[in-house]
Amino acid sequence: MKAALISLGSTSSKWTAEAMRKYFDQVDELDIREIEVSLGSKNYGVFYKGEHLEEYDCIFGKGSFRYSALLRSITSILYDKCYMPIEQDSFSVVHDKLLTHLVLQKHDIPMPTTYLSATVNAAKAILKKVNYPIIMKFPQGTQGKGVMVADSYAGASSVLDALQSLKQPFIIQEYIETDGVDIRAIVVKGKVIAAMERKAETGEKRSNIHQGGSGEKVELDTQTKKITIETAKVLGADICAVDILSSHKGPLIIEANLSPGLQGITKATNMDIADKIAKALYLKTKEFIENKKSTKANQILEEVGIKTSKDEVKQVITNLDLRGNRLLLPEIITNITQFGEKEEVVLKAKKDHLYIKTFNIEK
Ligand SMILES: Nc1ncnc2c1ncn2[C@@H]1O[C@H](COP(=O)(O)OP(=O)(O)O)[C@@H](O)[C@H]1O
Ligand SMILES: [Mg+2]
Repeated sequence: MKAALISLGSTSSKWTAEAMRKYFDQVDELDIREIEVSLGSKNYGVFYKGEHLEEYDCIFGKGSFRYSALLRSITSILYDKCYMPIEQDSFSVVHDKLLTHLVLQKHDIPMPTTYLSATVNAAKAILKKVNYPIIMKFPQGTQGKGVMVADSYAGASSVLDALQSLKQPFIIQEYIETDGVDIRAIVVKGKVIAAMERKAETGEKRSNIHQGGSGEKVELDTQTKKITIETAKVLGADICAVDILSSHKGPLIIEANLSPGLQGITKATNMDIADKIAKALYLKTKEFIENKKSTKANQILEEVGIKTSKDEVKQVITNLDLRGNRLLLPEIITNITQFGEKEEVVLKAKKDHLYIKTFNIEK
């Protein structure tokens, strides 16, 4: 099987590609800056260094919010052709904290109280009624850089004026007191595979490792695990990181990340996270190929008027084809049985009868 990792070539991406090489026959590392999407002509599609992108069984696209439109476009075009762990909407939604909160709200996933307003006056009205401190953040900031803490209405109001002059959208959020600690969990294929607590540096409220925070392995309680897994699911990501604040109201989700750094969490948990991601990509790709094969077989059967259901035995009436004295079975049989090249099978034969079964299957 052949896979591509589209990324900016960070250390985490290199680790992931390296781990993928243990499972896939070929892994190409593609620089996202060399990718182009062309629409509107017969020759539409995804291009790499000016040429049509090769066919892959699996494509894992990573990149910061600057690349979310491109990653979304690549996914939209190739999603049915190969396994891609992130759904197209996910790139737009996860790279914007406001859109993320809107999706989480729809699924009743708990989060800090969050406000959005259209004008400075409306924002000031919100700032008058909230308790302090308060958080103000850019929907698209990362690594803690777009997060501001204001201790009073006066402070918040001056931050607001600065934000207004930058003409940047922002959200106002209830400050959750956690003593500068947040939880970063990695979800892979519907499971929390690793989690760490990050503690902000003294005097700092943002616990991002990039802001000097330090990580320590943590076991999540059942409720936190449940909403973390649910978050990844509703955001359409088979692989992602989820940031959580533990409050007296229970766990609250603050954001998800489709391209999380692996160094911090690998060190904190002493686990090979890249390997777990690579293995999941491999298993999901295998599943994708098998589903595609059986869908194709079912389509052919339906076209020739044979109804299909998953475990039903299908009957095909055909003339036998002998090459020399060897029996050649029709392609449709290969598609239905999903027998692969060199697969070990048991043949049971007597006059007028032939039965073929994969070897090693009990029953
Ligand atoms: N509502 C909040 N209450 C308390 N701390 C917060 C809140 N939102 C963010 N933080 C702190 O700021 C850090 C960065 O915020 P986050 O929303 O995850 O943005 P980023 O994309 O920059 O990581 C968090 O890890 C957390 O320590
Ligand atoms: Mg974060």
